[in-house]
Amino acid sequence: MTPEQRMESVYRENPQGIGRDKLAEMAQVGTKRARTFLRNKRETLETVVSLTDWHVPYEDERAVNCALNFCKAIQPDVIALHEIHDFYDLSRFNQDPARKETLQDELDKATAYLRRLRRYCPESRFILLESNHLDRLRRFLWTEGRPLASLRALKIENLLELQELDIEFRENWHHKGVLFKHGDLVRKHSAYTAKGEFDKEGCAGVTGHTHRLGAFYTRKRGGSYTWLESGCLCDLNPEYISGVADWQHGITLVSFERNGSQYFAEPIPIINGQLIYGGRVISA
Ligand SMILES: [Fe+2]
Ligand SMILES: [Fe+2]
Repeated sequence: MTPEQRMESVYRENPQGIGRDKLAEMAQVGTKRARTFLRNKRETLETVVSLTDWHVPYEDERAVNCALNFCKAIQPDVIALHEIHDFYDLSRFNQDPARKETLQDELDKATAYLRRLRRYCPESRFILLESNHLDRLRRFLWTEGRPLASLRALKIENLLELQELDIEFRENWHHKGVLFKHGDLVRKHSAYTAKGEFDKEGCAGVTGHTHRLGAFYTRKRGGSYTWLESGCLCDLNPEYISGVADWQHGITLVSFERNGSQYFAEPIPIINGQLIYGGRVISA
């Protein structure tokens, strides 16, 4: 019997209910696997939260803390992460001589947030998606840093301790008809980019990159589609923008039917370090 069949058999023999640890022991599987099995049996929706554009060390601590507390409260099945780091020192454009943080400080700070998120959501699947700021390291290693490019320690997976934190690293993630990616389009207003991404990809999706919240909806003969722009968790007043940056703090939640093909996609604004979900206030 496969592990799934063993769990199914134990589950059926205990109609009064069975806990994760007992199921793991009786079916001889890991507790993580047993928990996922039970979750699939009990919960009708699979939830995916996107936390994008933190730009550590230029994150907005209250927005990040609020987003982490939201994840702690709802225990998403999947957390999609992108543009967590700014990699300021590797930028060719931003070079403020008064800046105190080093690249190591930036990495340590981002890793501390991710450790906390892992502690809050021990069973969630974490997926880090490629982004232009993360790509600053690769571009540096392919140009000025070329002699160091082969060092294993400088591979993104190793530098960001992804294995230790149980984080997958991928270009994008296509799940049940919804494409999660960082994005590279920037149009002028909220949701304009979402429309542009839909026009380009022809499917539903969730992107970051614009630092705006937005939702584009369309219904065609082939079906109904939503594309979300998922806001940001960074400082809304960075030194390199003169005037007011048209950005919004926020996150997105996509809930998928486990036994169906429908998804529900919603942008969730974070205002002054607070969000409201299901009538409940979640704060930083
Ligand atoms: Fe960004
Ligand atoms: Fe970006």
